[in-house]
Amino acid sequence: MIKRAPSMFVVRHALSSPSARCRSLRTHTSPVRYIQSSSRPRLPPLAFAFDIDGVLLRGPHTIPAARRALDMLNGVNPMGVTIPFILLTNGGGLGEEARRHKLSSQLGVEIHSNQIVQAHTILKSVVHKYADKPVLVLGGRNDEIRKVAEDYGFKHAYTTLDVLAWKPEVWPFHNLTPEERASVKPADFSGIPISAIFVFHDPRNWSLDIQVILDVIRSRGIVGGPYLDPSPTSNQQSLPPVELVLCNPDLLWKSDFPQPRLGQGAFREAFQAVYQAVVGARYPCVQYGKPTKATYEFAESVLRDRLEEFSGDRVDEMPRVYMIADNPESDIAGANAAGWPSVLVKTGVYDPSRGPPTHTPSYIAEDVEEAVRWAIEREMRK
Ligand code: G3P
Ligand code: MG
Repeated sequence: MIKRAPSMFVVRHALSSPSARCRSLRTHTSPVRYIQSSSRPRLPPLAFAFDIDGVLLRGPHTIPAARRALDMLNGVNPMGVTIPFILLTNGGGLGEEARRHKLSSQLGVEIHSNQIVQAHTILKSVVHKYADKPVLVLGGRNDEIRKVAEDYGFKHAYTTLDVLAWKPEVWPFHNLTPEERASVKPADFSGIPISAIFVFHDPRNWSLDIQVILDVIRSRGIVGGPYLDPSPTSNQQSLPPVELVLCNPDLLWKSDFPQPRLGQGAFREAFQAVYQAVVGARYPCVQYGKPTKATYEFAESVLRDRLEEFSGDRVDEMPRVYMIADNPESDIAGANAAGWPSVLVKTGVYDPSRGPPTHTPSYIAEDVEEAVRWAIEREMRK
């Protein structure tokens, strides 16, 4: 039984009573419990950013400690307060609304779409630059990612399957499946200048995707057009160089297979290796996703919006944000650079038998439940 905290804290929330918790989907909708220590109500001193793969989930399976950890945030903690959190993942593939439904049932806690930062969520902050321009979007099956891109505001989003349907000779080694053909948007790419390429999520057909990216870049947007000197300094081109934007740098990630799997970062390296071999240089690209500064700043703004929504007030002093994660290269490196305390768990990519992590966390825990308890008690001691 978790010890009750001294009286300076406001009363526990009705939801913490056992019967309330047993209901199917525990809600986290109640306003964040404030610490009443002066005239102005204050938020709890901490908040959490949870990584998903390797911390809460392993592939389709929910890690048992995840539900207990989220229970603690729901008021079942020494502070007796509801502690705010967001989910910060390099995963993706679905819109935030669809993802929240899926996660809510996997975790047994109601998650809100403004609580989720996926690898491509940050593109909502740049879509205004591309809304009316033709772009190529990659990742996921069939046209799943086109639907996400259109929801974000990309009005002319094409997939590599659209290109293959237009001219099968673009990649003679793959015949569209009936499902893929049904997802295609007919188009004549000889007249569509692709301005940018967005890799939203893990590509499913690396060879086709690498071929089409190469064609788009080398022809400065017109698939099948003459190959032009791709170097940004070349002045023979009327068309600007095509932007290449990737959303997840993870080389490896943890699913339900014993060993980590190749991630979108491995796709990036495969593309760059081919590009280097063919053109003789790496192609400059924009990289989002953990550990990038842009993604951590974006995540902090998402958390601030959520706290302001709850408190109905401006949040001047952000609570300390604890990053709970399994990947030293992406999660811990990013948290350290953002000045966030972090806890590395042993349920994912990080394997303690391979020595100390490449980036040092504030603490190493067996799992997310121990991580949350450690952070709360650390704040209690402060
Ligand atoms: O594809 C997702 C993977 O790279 C990692 O996801 O939740 O551990 O950041 P996550
Ligand atoms: Mg992870």
